[in-house]
Amino acid sequence: MTKSLTEIPLSVEWKETYIRILDQQKLPHETVFLDLFTLKDVFQAIVTLKVRGAPAIGITAAYGLALTAQSYTVSCLNEFRRKLQEDRDYIASSRPTAVNLFWAIDRLMKAIDHASSVNAAKTNLIHEAVSIQMEDEATCREIGEYALTLFKKNDRVLTICNAGSIATAKYGTALSPFYLAKEREMPLKVFACETRPVLQGARLTVWELLQANIDVTLITDNMAAHTIKTKGITSIIVGADRITANGDTANKIGTLNLAILAKSFNIPFYVAAPLSTFDLTKKTGEEIVIEERPPTEVTHIGDQLIAPAGVTVFNPAFDVTPNEYITAIITEKGVISGDYRTHIRDLFI
Ligand code: MRU
Repeated sequence: MTKSLTEIPLSVEWKETYIRILDQQKLPHETVFLDLFTLKDVFQAIVTLKVRGAPAIGITAAYGLALTAQSYTVSCLNEFRRKLQEDRDYIASSRPTAVNLFWAIDRLMKAIDHASSVNAAKTNLIHEAVSIQMEDEATCREIGEYALTLFKKNDRVLTICNAGSIATAKYGTALSPFYLAKEREMPLKVFACETRPVLQGARLTVWELLQANIDVTLITDNMAAHTIKTKGITSIIVGADRITANGDTANKIGTLNLAILAKSFNIPFYVAAPLSTFDLTKKTGEEIVIEERPPTEVTHIGDQLIAPAGVTVFNPAFDVTPNEYITAIITEKGVISGDYRTHIRDLFI
């Protein structure tokens, strides 16, 4: 039976005294929810990729900060701010690359700037975190609308990682146009790279799209060039974890390979991302900190060791695509291309 998008579980839910997340490590075999009661629980869930994807990380961290602040027993606002800053710094250290994490928790810090009491500050934090999630849903739908204008009937679109509903509040960024196309009965074919090392494409993107009855074909990452060539891929669309002032874009490791292939095969390479993914404090992608993750993600698939034990491993979680490889960046404010420095600056005016 076909599931509509409304039935795909939410990545994150605020439950007043705890946060419920969809455990993305258990997918696709089990749809299990995990209840987070402390900021440490939230930290662990983010580090271990139980919740992942730039916007979803930001939303969860914001809820984590709002939740932990409810337990502060201080009565002085300055002391409240000091404790919140400490907890902000702690959750900020969970993952370095996706700027949405920092954007969301810094929005919470600002939300208490003019609070008149500790109780008011506690309420502001909850409201701000809820707003971040609600805004992200609307934003992702707008990104989908703009992205869809770039596709035509029967296009064959390649993607990597999971920039879908469960990586955001709803709809996703790179996957949002596919949901909207489905709603409008516009036929599109999606090709999903499995996305080694931890298989967000095979486990999450395929799971999501199949639930919505979207036409998706799974390939391994090293099949991309052959697939573009033989299956008539018309474009590539990916999400982003951080976009610098000049349009350079960090996204899941393997994205740069696809950008180079797109140029070589002369097909468009699109990046879909909300304004919360832009980092104007960084001029170019050279300044982006790339997270390196545990070697076991490379030496193992699931619990199965697939390489000689003890081998030296390099496991960067992201790469940076230089702006010249990017045909267009799709945001909730529209599609930009060409002179990214100017267009990105204009997005924030
Ligand atoms: O390590 P992950 O799974 O958090 O990496 C996720 C990505 O690279 C996504 O493409 C990006 O966060 C955009 S999600 C809308």
